[in-house]
Amino acid sequence: MSEFKEVLTKDGTISLRSLVFHENFHSLEGALKETEIKFINPSDLKRFKDKSLNVLDICFGLGYNSASLFNTLIRQNSFVNWYALEIDKKPLEYSLGNKLFQKLWHPKVLKIFKSLSQNSTYKDQSFECHILWGDARERIKNIPENIKFDLIYLDGFSPQKCPQIWTIEFLAEVTRKLNPNGYLITYSSSAAIRKVLRNFGLSIFSINPILTSKKLWSNGTIAIKKIDEKGFHSNLHFKKLSPMEEEHLLTKASIPYRDPTLSAKAKDIIETRAKEQLFSNLKTSKKWRGKWGMTKSTLNS
Ligand SMILES: C[S@@+](CC[C@H](N)C(=O)[O-])C[C@H]1O[C@@H](n2cnc3c(N)ncnc32)[C@H](O)[C@@H]1O
Repeated sequence: MSEFKEVLTKDGTISLRSLVFHENFHSLEGALKETEIKFINPSDLKRFKDKSLNVLDICFGLGYNSASLFNTLIRQNSFVNWYALEIDKKPLEYSLGNKLFQKLWHPKVLKIFKSLSQNSTYKDQSFECHILWGDARERIKNIPENIKFDLIYLDGFSPQKCPQIWTIEFLAEVTRKLNPNGYLITYSSSAAIRKVLRNFGLSIFSINPILTSKKLWSNGTIAIKKIDEKGFHSNLHFKKLSPMEEEHLLTKASIPYRDPTLSAKAKDIIETRAKEQLFSNLKTSKKWRGKWGMTKSTLNS
C-alpha cells in the first residue's frame, strides 16, 4: 500500500489518498456522504423496487458507490446485473480488511465484495456481479454488447489528474452502453465533460449543490438519452443547468480531452488539449468566473 495514504473523512468513514495521482479518493467532507449525495440519491433507486436493473460502476476503487447501492437494493428486493471496471485491486483489498468500512454494510455486501476480490464474480438468485480488472478503456470492450445499463457511475480521479477516462472517445464507449432511459452519473461538473455528453445528444442535468461548502455550485452531472419528464420532475436531486452553468459550456473549459486510440498517456492528453485551448477563440474561463463572481477554488472538477 506504499502508493496510498489512509484518510479519515469528516463523517467518520475512511478513504485513501493516491500518491500516484496526487488526489484523494473522496471528498474530505465524508466518503460515505459523498457517495450518497452524488451517486445514490440521484439514482432514485426506489424505481427498481422488486424489479431488475443493470449497473456499471467505472472506477470502483474502495467500492463505496457499489456498496451503498447494493445495501439499498438488497433491502428492496431488486435483481441486479452489475459490472465494474477498475485498474487496481489494492483499494478493494484495503476496504475489505478495514473494520470501519465493514461495519457500514449489510453482511451480503461484504460477501459479494469478498467474492469479487477472490474470483472477480458473484452470483446468487438476485445478484450477478462481474468486476473487470485493468484499464477501463480496454476492459469496457469486454462487457457483452447486448447489455445496456440503467445506471452508470463514472467516478475516476479528476480530469486534470486522470484524463484517460474523460475523453470524447471513452465517453462515447460509455454512452453506447447506456439504456435509453438510463442515468450516467458523475461527480464532475467539468464543462469539457458536459459539452461532450450534450454533443452526443444526451440531456444533461446538474446534481444539486447540497454538500456543506457554500462555494460549491454543483455536485456533478447526470446525462440521460431519453428523458422521461415525469421521472425528471419527481427527482429532487438534480435540475436543469443554470444560466451560469450553460455559459460555462461556451468557454475554453469546454474543449474536450481527446484520445483517438484509447491508449494515450495522461500527459499527452493534457498537452493536446492545452494546445487546442491556446488557439481557440472561445471566451476564457477566467472571464466567465469573473462575470459570475467566482474564484478558481469554486470550480468543481
Ligand atoms: C476516485 S477513485 C474511485 C473511488 C471509488 N468510486 C470509491 O467509491 O471508492 C478512482 C479510481 O479509479 C481507478 N483508475 C484510475 N485509472 C483507471 C483506469 N484507466 N481504468 C480503470 N480504473 C482506473 C483508480 O485505481 C481508483 O481506484
